[in-house]
Amino acid sequence: DDPALIDTFGRVATDLRVSLTDKCNLRCTYCMPAEGLDWMPGDQLLSDDELVHLLTIAVERLGVTDIRLTGGEPLLRPGLEGLIARVAALEPRPRMSMTTNGIGLAKRAKGLAEAGLDRINVSLDTVDAATFREITRRDRLPHVLAGLAAAREAGMNPVKINSVLMRGTNEHQATSLLRYCVENGYHLRFIEQMPLDAQHGWIRGEMITAAEILDLLGTEFTLSPSPSVRGGAPAERWLVDGGPAEVGVIASVTRPFCSDCERTRLTADGAVRSCLFSTEETDLRRLLRGGAGDEAVAEAWRATMWAKLAGHEINEAGFAQPIRPMSAIGG
Ligand code: GTP
Ligand code: 5AD
Ligand code: SF4
Repeated sequence: DDPALIDTFGRVATDLRVSLTDKCNLRCTYCMPAEGLDWMPGDQLLSDDELVHLLTIAVERLGVTDIRLTGGEPLLRPGLEGLIARVAALEPRPRMSMTTNGIGLAKRAKGLAEAGLDRINVSLDTVDAATFREITRRDRLPHVLAGLAAAREAGMNPVKINSVLMRGTNEHQATSLLRYCVENGYHLRFIEQMPLDAQHGWIRGEMITAAEILDLLGTEFTLSPSPSVRGGAPAERWLVDGGPAEVGVIASVTRPFCSDCERTRLTADGAVRSCLFSTEETDLRRLLRGGAGDEAVAEAWRATMWAKLAGHEINEAGFAQPIRPMSAIGG
């Protein structure tokens, strides 16, 4: 058996994204409704032991080298630091990162770094407090900014920021956000909005495209292509005013990067997905709880990845959004 997670297009998935919970303490309008969602029942969530068991299989048998913790909001997972320490003890030690909204990070960044978290990506769509409240439906901007500073103090490097621009809401704050990130040493990336919201409200014509993002930034900054190697990374990078500061653009819709995808995903309830947009997934929790051995679980994971499609089909006629929203898959 090949130890790697390969697909029929020859891609090898070495990067595992694990959702630790579907819950969140913000309510971003492009993600979920004000009232929240029907969260996964507790008995359906992987326990820490089950999670560590699956991650051990991924690292030891399937060639996973990088693990990103996501949500919902991963900081809401009870015992997160302990879980990170257990994953950091796997051999060979995976590189570990987290994608978070930053609420509560100010107090926890140091402990997370000590537990073994190497890097962090924080979601932040504006540095204007009123607009932050409008987008997230919570008045928490200062908490996120304090969290970012704490991550930097804790030695996490780089500290990245993910930002989704929405027409008529924060599009004209793109430049102030970039200025803030350059001044504070954070690496900002703007993301094209994808059809993954729980409300199924995505409208192609409303999406701010990568080309528009570059135009918006171009009104105040001079951007030139970054010489850094992209590899399988989703972001195209630009030097800001000659560098060394950079800004990234993740053009998932208008310039898909699926042909270089290195990702596999595990949901908080134990399903493996080969893509954000998969319409099929494999229930590893059922296998585990049914007493399947490690090699059987590994083989089910390999089979799921082997069936990975060439790419998402957002730009194809007849595209249908997956049933799971972004918050239940992991960003
Ligand atoms: P690093 O470059 O290692 O920091 O990770 P990353 O950029 O993949 O991580 P992050 O979780 O911050 O993802 C940033 C954004 O990229 C997400 O919010 C998504 O919008 C987008 N993204 C991540 N993974 C995928 C993917 O598999 N497919 C697509 N189309 N977009 C993705
Ligand atoms: N399209 C693109 N990015 C999204 N995010 C959440 N929903 C979407 C979407 N529909 C981003 C968040 C966060 C990351 C987890 O995903 O802003 O940075
Ligand atoms: Fe929470 Fe992230 Fe969704 Fe915002 S985008 S509501 S921070 S899961």
